[in-house]
Amino acid sequence: MTNDWQTIKDLGYLISIVLFIIGLKRLSHPETAKKGNLIAAAGMGLAILIALFIPMEGANNNYLWIAAGIVVGAVIGLVAAKKVLMTKMPEMVSLFNGLGGACSMLIAFVELYNMDANASLASGQGVTTLFALFIGSISFTGSIVAWGKLDGFLRDSLVLPAPQIINLVLLVGILALNVYVAFLPSLDFSFIIALLVLSLIYGVTFVTPIGGGDMPVVISLLNSFTGLGAAGAGLIYGNMVMVTGGILVGASGTILTVLMCQAMNRSLLNVVIGGFGAAGTASGTSREQVVKEAAANDLAIQLKYAQRVMIVPGYGMAVAQAQHSVHELEKFLESEGVEVKYAIHPVAGRMPGHMNVLLAEADVDYPKLMELEDANKEMEQTDMVLVIGANDVVNPAAKEDSSSPIFGMPILDVENAKAVTVLKRSMSAGYAGIQNQLFFGERTKMLFGDAKSSINKLIEEVGTV
Ligand code: TAP
Repeated sequence: MTNDWQTIKDLGYLISIVLFIIGLKRLSHPETAKKGNLIAAAGMGLAILIALFIPMEGANNNYLWIAAGIVVGAVIGLVAAKKVLMTKMPEMVSLFNGLGGACSMLIAFVELYNMDANASLASGQGVTTLFALFIGSISFTGSIVAWGKLDGFLRDSLVLPAPQIINLVLLVGILALNVYVAFLPSLDFSFIIALLVLSLIYGVTFVTPIGGGDMPVVISLLNSFTGLGAAGAGLIYGNMVMVTGGILVGASGTILTVLMCQAMNRSLLNVVIGGFGAAGTASGTSREQVVKEAAANDLAIQLKYAQRVMIVPGYGMAVAQAQHSVHELEKFLESEGVEVKYAIHPVAGRMPGHMNVLLAEADVDYPKLMELEDANKEMEQTDMVLVIGANDVVNPAAKEDSSSPIFGMPILDVENAKAVTVLKRSMSAGYAGIQNQLFFGERTKMLFGDAKSSINKLIEEVGTV
C-alpha cells in the first residue's frame, strides 16, 4: 500500500473512532440517544467502506462473497429490527450480542486454521487469537442461553447439578489447555477444536444456573465479553478501529455490569463464579390471604384529590405498550393540580434503561423520572403509588426473605406510601417467579386488567368525577 493510501486509511479510521465516541456519549441520554445511534452507525459504515476499498496487504478480496455477506446480513438486520416488538427488544439485543461473539470466535478459528503448522502460539499474536476464540465462544453460547431465558423457552428451573464445580473445572481446564497449546512446539489443530468446543460448552454452563433477578448482570457482562472479543479480533489484524470499537463496547459493558451489580446488590465475583441467584421456589404465598380489588371510579377520585402521585412502571407497561396512556393520565392529573413523578428501578423491564426509553418515547419530561434512592425518600409523602405492570422491583421479599432469589436487591419501598394500587392482569408472578406480599398489604389495592385498558379507563373516570 502506498503512503498516500495508508494516510487516507488512517485518517478514515480516526474519523470512525471519533464518531463511535461521540455516538456512545450521546447514547447516555434518551433525548440524544437516537442521534447517537446514527452517528455511531455512520462511523461503522465509514470503517466498513475503508476496510473494503483500502484492503489489507495480501488479503484475498473476493468482493462477491463480501457483497453477498453484506446484503444477507443487512436484510436480516433490517427485517428483524423493523418487525421486533418493543417487548422483544432485549431478546434481540441478546441474540445480536451473541452474533458479535460468534464473529470473534470465527475470526480467531479461521486465523488458527490458516496458521503455519510449525508456528508456536506463545507470542502476542498467538495469545490474542486464543483469547478471542475463548471469549467469543463464551459470549456466543452464553448470549444464546440468555436469549432463551429472556424469551422464556429456557426455564430457570433447568439447573445443572453442582454448577459452580462444573464451571470451575471447565474454566481451569480451558485455561490449562490454552497454556499447553501455546507452548506446543508446533500447532496441533485438534487441540484448537477441543478448545473451541470446551469454550462453547462453558458459555452454556456459565449462564444456565443464573436466573431470576440476576439476569441483567449477566447480560451486561456478556456484552462486555463481546467487546473484548472484538478488540481481540482487531488485534489479530492490527485493525485499530476494530480494537477501539471493541474496547468501547467492552468498557461500557463493564461499567454497566458494575452498575447492575450495585443495583442488584451482588458482587462481581459472584457473577464470575456463576450459579448465584438461581430462581428459588415461589415464596410468600398463603392460601388464606386475600387481596383488595380497586374500582376504577374510586381510584379516579383518590387520584384527583391526591397531592402527590408516584408512578412505578415495570415490564407489564412495556407489554401493554401503556406508556402513552400513562403520560396522558399524568398530564390530566397535573392539570388538576396533582404532582406526578415516576420512580424508575434500575432493572425494571428487561433491559437497562427500558423504562426510560419507553417514557422518553411517550414524551414524558425527563426531570420527572426519579432514581430509586430519591424516589424512596419521597414515598412517605406520596398519597398514591400506581404500580403499572411492575412486580419484582416492588417485592418486599428482597428485604425480608433471605431464601428469596431476589433477596438483597434494593427495591422501591412503595409500601411506605399512603396508598398503593397495582395494575396488572392477574396474580401471576414476575420475572423471578415469586409471589409478592405487597399485593396483600394493608394499603394495597389491585386493579386487574391490561395496563393500557386500565389506564384508559382511569383517564375517562378522572374526566367525569
Ligand atoms: P416483572 O417482575 O417481570 O413483572 C412484570 C409484571 O407485569 C408481571 O407480574 C405481569 O403480571 C405484569 N404484566 C404483564 N403484562 C401486563 C399487561 N399487559 N398489563 C398489565 N400488567 C402486565 O417486572 P419488573 O417489576 O419490571 O421487574 C423486572 C424483572 O426482570 C426483575 O426481576 C429483573 O431482574 C428482571 N430482568 C431485568 C432486566 C433488565 S436489565 N431490566 C434484564 C433481565 C431480567 P400479570 O401477568 O398478572 O399481568
